[in-house]
Amino acid sequence: MTSWRARFSQYGWAILPLRLFLGITLIYAGLLKFFDPNYLNPASPDGVQHQMAAAAITSPISAMVSQTAEHATLFGLMIALGELLVGLGVLLGVFTRIAAAGGFLLSLSFLLTVSWGTTPYFLGPDIVFMFAFTPLILGGDGGVLSVSGAILRSTRRRMNLAVPAPAHESATITAGVERRALVQTGVVAVLVGVGAVLVGGVGRLVSGGSSDTTASGATASPSAPSSPSASASSAGDAGSTPAPMGGGASGAANGTAVGKTSDLKVGGSLPFTDPSNGAPGYVVQPKAGTYLAFSAVCTHEGCTVGFDQSANQFACPCHGARFDASNGDVVRGPARQPLQKYTVSESGGTLYIA
Ligand code: FES
Repeated sequence: MTSWRARFSQYGWAILPLRLFLGITLIYAGLLKFFDPNYLNPASPDGVQHQMAAAAITSPISAMVSQTAEHATLFGLMIALGELLVGLGVLLGVFTRIAAAGGFLLSLSFLLTVSWGTTPYFLGPDIVFMFAFTPLILGGDGGVLSVSGAILRSTRRRMNLAVPAPAHESATITAGVERRALVQTGVVAVLVGVGAVLVGGVGRLVSGGSSDTTASGATASPSAPSSPSASASSAGDAGSTPAPMGGGASGAANGTAVGKTSDLKVGGSLPFTDPSNGAPGYVVQPKAGTYLAFSAVCTHEGCTVGFDQSANQFACPCHGARFDASNGDVVRGPARQPLQKYTVSESGGTLYIA
């Protein structure tokens, strides 16, 4: 076996491409969130609140998602910072196993929220990310191009010990070396953490993004740094781009007011925002005096559907699902579940949902 073959068959070198990919991708995802002015914007369909609202509908842990939704902005920041820290840890080799475990948990939370409706399951990215972190949790970085590995080797040299550690070295000596190296690696980790917080703060300042922590809405978007839902609203929309309205006035007897009948033409649609969870929706009027209301959250992966007036369908721009605007049923996959329906009523020229 040639020397390069011997080298690249070592675990640390063999795992290096995966470390590079995961590290760079997670750093990129975290930075995108910090520098995206819409990410923490409660009014934006790209924002973490809308993503959480969408996930709360389909997630198997919807009760937990709904509770965390009360603090969507805080969770959004934690997700962005978590991605940045995981990416830096895996890329630089600083507490790689712990960083990889963090990446696994982030991916798992994304899988249980935004990717949950993906069918078949392997088309969703989060389950792949989750298992991609597994070898790093089990085996670490192998000491190759790794800050932790460099500190360990440097510590051994200063203690006049052989590098690498001989197989017969006593457990006491090995433990002593690792203890010293652990302290130094901890200092590096703190510096990396401070750097990540500073970069994130700069990102929020540059983007001019809101830090409003009174958010109302919902779940966190995972591997999708910026939700595709933004473009969603325009993709199948034959009319104007939905400009969510409503969310405000509530008529105790009729439900929640979402708009005026005078703003809704026959055959047209009227976008609104469900004030209970911040999710987008539409009222449509297929024939004069008949009003139907549906959630605009695609039941596949939570993108925002648009109204295609010419086909009387809702169209999802993310993966092409279509829904019948007369009943919400799936016309074309990959979505399998119909759109959520609302009860809609009209009184005195105002439309109400319940
Ligand atoms: Fe995939 Fe709508 S999110 S089709």
